[in-house]
Amino acid sequence: MTRLTLTRPDDWHLHLRDSAALAAVLPHTAARFARAIVMPNLKPPVTTTDQAAAYRARILAALPTGARFEPLMTLYLTDRTSAAEIERAKASGIVHGCKLYPAGATTHSDAGVTDLRKLDDTLARMADLGLPLQVHGEVTDAEVDIFDREARFIDTVLAPLVDRIPRLRVVFEHITTRAASEFVRAARDGVAATITPQHLLLTRNALLAGGIRPHLYCLPILKTEIDRRALIEAATSGNPRYFLGTDSAPHARHTKETACGCAGIYSAHAGIELYAEAFEAAGALPKLEAFASHFGPDWYGLPRNRDAIALVKTPWTVPADYPFGADTIVPWFAGESLRWQLAAESGQ
Ligand code: DOR
Ligand code: ZN
Repeated sequence: MTRLTLTRPDDWHLHLRDSAALAAVLPHTAARFARAIVMPNLKPPVTTTDQAAAYRARILAALPTGARFEPLMTLYLTDRTSAAEIERAKASGIVHGCKLYPAGATTHSDAGVTDLRKLDDTLARMADLGLPLQVHGEVTDAEVDIFDREARFIDTVLAPLVDRIPRLRVVFEHITTRAASEFVRAARDGVAATITPQHLLLTRNALLAGGIRPHLYCLPILKTEIDRRALIEAATSGNPRYFLGTDSAPHARHTKETACGCAGIYSAHAGIELYAEAFEAAGALPKLEAFASHFGPDWYGLPRNRDAIALVKTPWTVPADYPFGADTIVPWFAGESLRWQLAAESGQ
């Protein structure tokens, strides 16, 4: 196959940042995806519906002329998010979920939730109103090995939560382990997962063997080949519980190439092409469209997109960097070749 036409996909997990950084990265996403679930981990975080509306307006203002792209906003849950705020969020029509960052789990998560049980009233209101919870699924205990934090989270937080609030719709974001894919497959109705391209294509060897690669450091951290294969199996299975979420997370070069670097892989420049690489390598290209373009909107109760994009199998070299305000970002595959590229007529 040398050309692949897909219903235009959506990105169900994306970091767009703000200001000049936002303006720098948004065109990459808007050229490929019609909509994206926009993460609220700005500094300060997006914790109210009013803040989400203002952020949404800044995103729309930053779009290139003529681009059509709909940001789907989320609220950042804190220990103080009230049931009344959930009602405002749902009534706004622009907020499509609330993001749970366990406090300290990742970039800009210090204002996150310290004890989920204290939020049960808020979560129950979300369940009543059908507002989904997007979960960063890692425990934060310093004594838990970083490679075990997702599996530990399933046992100690997520499984009890899914039982405690039976109608809450939950997206287990960026799953990275066989344990997570198995949990999602067997979970009750209303539980789904997003899968990133890096967790489909890479293992921790890419990060650590033969030299440390700061641009491949993300959270949850890359795992083992057994885990990667389980994610490939899930993504290509045709099970509608698994859908696309890039978790593209730009950081300025100097904050990655440093003694204590930030977590996040920038992938928006090839946000659909990278999945084509992964699905092709698995012999599953015909399964890409449903994963990228059907299962996400179906789960979120939104219409599927009506237009299409095309990918062509024409190798291209990813630039060494992209402008990022006054800085630069180093994209995943910088200076290397990707086999699939977006056909020129697919941009919007
Ligand atoms: O690698 C990551 N980067 N993981 C996250 O959970 C957050 C993200 C970011 O915002 O940079
Ligand atoms: Zn993320």
